[in-house]
Amino acid sequence: MKWKIFATLIMGLGLAGCDMPAEETARSSGSEAVLERNLDPVQVARGKAVYDKACLECHGAGGRGQPGDWRIRDADGHFPPPPLDDSAHAWHHPTAVLLQVIREGSPQGQGKMPAWEGRLTEQEMQDVVVYIKSLWSDEVYSLWSKMERQSLEP
Ligand code: HEC
Repeated sequence: MKWKIFATLIMGLGLAGCDMPAEETARSSGSEAVLERNLDPVQVARGKAVYDKACLECHGAGGRGQPGDWRIRDADGHFPPPPLDDSAHAWHHPTAVLLQVIREGSPQGQGKMPAWEGRLTEQEMQDVVVYIKSLWSDEVYSLWSKMERQSLEP
C-alpha cells in the first residue's frame, strides 16, 4: 500500500463521510447471501484482550467510540477517535490499511492515533484487527469482505 493512497483514505475519515467506490459496488450487488464469517474465536478473544488494554481508553468499550461526534475536529484541529464497530468508518478499509493505521498511527503524525509498531507484536496487531471485524454486523461484514476481495485483485 502506497503511503499516498493510505493518506487519502485516512484523510477521508472526518471529511464528508466516505464515498469510496468499493462501497457503492458492494451495495449495488446487495442481493447476495450474507457471508459465513470465518473468524477464529480464539484469535478474537486474544484480540479483545489487546484491545481492552491498548485501545479501549480511546475507542471505547466494544469499539463503540466516545460520546460526541467523531467527525468533528477537536479544539486543536484533530479528529477524535472514531468508533471501530460498524457505526463509523473502520469497515471501509481493507485489512492491509487497518494494519497500517495501527502500525503507523495517524498519517505523518498529524493526529492522535498512536503508532503501535514496536509496542505491540505483529501477532497482537493481527489479533486486534480480527477482534474489530468481530464487532461488525453480518451485513456490514459481507459488504466489507467484497471490498476486501476487490482490494486484493491485481
Ligand atoms: C490515544 C488515543 C488512541 C489510542 C490509545 C488508540 N487510538 Fe486508534 N485512533 C485514534 C484517533 C484519534 C484516530 C483518528 C486518527 C486521525 O484522524 O488521524 C484513530 C484511528 C484509528 C483507526 C482508523 C479508523 C478509521 O475509521 O479509519 C483504527 C483502525 C484504529 N485507530 C485502531 C486502533 C487500535 C487497534 C488501537 C489499539 C491497539 C488504537 N487504535 C488505539 C486514537 C487512539
